[in-house]
Amino acid sequence: MNYRHAFHAGNFADVFKHALLTRILLYLNRKDAHYRVIDTHAGEGAYDLSRDEAARTGEWREGIGRLATLPRNSDAGRLLRPWLDIVGACDGEGRPLLYPGSPLIAQKLARKGDRLVFCEKHPDAFAALKARVARDRRVKALDLDGWTALGAFVPPPERRGLVLVDPPFEAKDEFSTMARSFAAAFAKWSTGIYALWYPVKDTAAAQDLWTAVGASRAKSALRLELAVAATAGLTRTGLIVVNPPFVLEGEARTLLPALAHLLERTPGAGAALIDSFGG
Ligand SMILES: C[S@@+](CC[C@H](N)C(=O)[O-])C[C@H]1O[C@@H](n2cnc3c(N)ncnc32)[C@H](O)[C@@H]1O
Repeated sequence: MNYRHAFHAGNFADVFKHALLTRILLYLNRKDAHYRVIDTHAGEGAYDLSRDEAARTGEWREGIGRLATLPRNSDAGRLLRPWLDIVGACDGEGRPLLYPGSPLIAQKLARKGDRLVFCEKHPDAFAALKARVARDRRVKALDLDGWTALGAFVPPPERRGLVLVDPPFEAKDEFSTMARSFAAAFAKWSTGIYALWYPVKDTAAAQDLWTAVGASRAKSALRLELAVAATAGLTRTGLIVVNPPFVLEGEARTLLPALAHLLERTPGAGAALIDSFGG
């Protein structure tokens, strides 16, 4: 397990994922009934982008660093505002003082009575996560394999909620592990929202995951992708949302083209893909 998210925090893929995560959680907040968030691969919780790891790659500059130029009163600006409020203050270079990962976003948006389960397997990342969330009684931070957690923690007692599956894709078989683990969890809990993040280096692998979700008997799902360049390397990323909030596709139609334009590496290279079934 070599992957450390600290090198990549705040990059274009994080912007895409965290903006959408925020929209999903805001939707869950529309109803009073409590929910549970299960973050199977939670990371450290938040990232100091002035630290050596982030400074070395500088990936945040082509991600969150670009958000400073977003017109705040545009439709996309309004949809991004709640997430940017959570990101908080930035320095003169557009670098947040602390970049919130998925656990911190969930903590900020969850209400009293909602429950949050964060799993993280890397010992250092887990220690950082644990230290950050220890005082929040709504949170359980577990040094546990995320794939095991996915099968073990559904359905949650609340019967409402979100499972975020955001592995590092270090292992070659991670796409098939994701498809298999999702299918097993979905068979136990078919009404939860599942958000499956993936990198697109191989379009066939992404297509196979989408086909596997279709074969799971999910009634509705949304496939969202954002590309910032047409070159090799990690320049395209995706999120499959199973049982998506009914507003999410419309929001994505506003958000993704704006993010593609804002985050593209060369003029005209940004692109968004939106596909769905059911709903
Ligand atoms: C992409 S990062 C997570 C980022 C986080 N979800 C966010 O949005 O802020 C993936 C994390 O999964 C952790 N990880 C790797 N294998 C794992 C496993 N089997 N179970 C749980 N966590 C794992 C890595 O240490 C890394 O911190």
